[in-house]
Amino acid sequence: MEKYVIRGGNPLKGEVTVSGAKNAAVAILSATVLAEGVCTIENVPDIRDVFTTLKILSELGAKVRYINKTTVEIDTTHLVTTTIPHELTCNMRASYYFWGCMLARYGHAKVSMPGGCDFGVRPIDQHKKGFEGLGAVVDIEEGMLDVHADHLIGNQIFFDKVSVGATMNVMLAAVRATGVTILENVAKEPHIVDLANFLNSMGANIMGAGTDVIKIHGVSEMHGTEYAIIPDQIEAGTYMVAAAATGGDVLVKNVIPKHMKPITAKLEAMGVEVEEFDEAIRISAPNKLTKIDIKTLPYPGFPTDMQPQMAVVACLAEGTSTITEGVWDNRFRYVYELQKMGADIKVDGKMAVIEGIDCFKAAPVKATDLRAGAAVVIAALCGDGETEVEDIYHIERGYEDFELKLSSLGADIRRIEVPDLQISAAI
Ligand code: UD1
Repeated sequence: MEKYVIRGGNPLKGEVTVSGAKNAAVAILSATVLAEGVCTIENVPDIRDVFTTLKILSELGAKVRYINKTTVEIDTTHLVTTTIPHELTCNMRASYYFWGCMLARYGHAKVSMPGGCDFGVRPIDQHKKGFEGLGAVVDIEEGMLDVHADHLIGNQIFFDKVSVGATMNVMLAAVRATGVTILENVAKEPHIVDLANFLNSMGANIMGAGTDVIKIHGVSEMHGTEYAIIPDQIEAGTYMVAAAATGGDVLVKNVIPKHMKPITAKLEAMGVEVEEFDEAIRISAPNKLTKIDIKTLPYPGFPTDMQPQMAVVACLAEGTSTITEGVWDNRFRYVYELQKMGADIKVDGKMAVIEGIDCFKAAPVKATDLRAGAAVVIAALCGDGETEVEDIYHIERGYEDFELKLSSLGADIRRIEVPDLQISAAI
């Protein structure tokens, strides 16, 4: 077990380079299954969810080779199984992309139900609806999702709810279906477009990704490719927010400024100075932040994955801010951790009402999930003493070299080993 020890008070200053997008990487790496050949993927983030995805690919029989820290070569010519056991899927939501890929390639997948961050109920009915729309049969037994079809046939599928995962999964299944598939009411996140571009580079025929309707002409064959993953919108946003919260001045490099607009707009509304360049954004914090009202929504709305980090900045703003969660049922578990650090936040259903405070106070806290973990780290960077953050394995699922990047910006943060507690058998 590891934890961070953070001494707050240093404004972040300097430059930081964003890694490849986690949520694009986990889908694109899974999608190499469709190549039946060799794919070389660049800008792969060095994070736990990527290692887990590569482990699953190896388990399936793919040959996986790192060319350098961020470039991976994957040969999926010969795979040996269509079943993925629970131990490999239990810690990561995105393991569900293997349903769509394996179904498209083999007409069968048996994958344990996915894990990932706990935001309340995380249904999969829209994935199921999409697969069934293509002619597949979906069974859930003993915690395994078994999906199979003799033949996938293109169809018109209207999603009842905008879902990133269901959009990508059904797109993965449909690329090799016979005929045309039209997906309506789809998600439009940058990683949906990235996955579609990747699949097209492998020979797929997908149009409309990034709009409400995606049209897919099924193809009978796909091939290996070389592809570079887009920069991570949420990692970039996290450093932007950390700069704003600590009163800093940071140039965030390797970003697509257009993807950052929902976050940029809210930071500007709080008085933060944001300067956009071709592939970078500079954040300069004001003397005093002003209150803000935010509602999370599917892209291009404000991303739910930036909600906890933004709550930290709102805590330091003058006046009363509100944050309404519009995507998940329960995404305020981190509030208790911030309250331990002196935050004045009241949660009423899907809304958090935040009264501004002068400063966070050091306290022992936990990363309750990936983005919640980033939020408590930012709060600790603004704290008045030494804060210890436990359960940082959540953070390492999605942030490459988090403490190293923060240290390079002047943060006083150390990652230390914590000996596991030995509990005596005699009670
Ligand atoms: C992905 C992201 C996650 C992010 C979320 C929303 C990955 C690996 N994870 O999660 O970080 O917070 O998008 O941007 O990319 N829903 C249904 N039925 C379904 C599927 C989803 O009702 O079959 C609902 C969910 O309960 C939720 C909403 O749709 O309320 C959005 O979920 P979805 O976009 O599917 O999130 P994920 O793909 O799981």
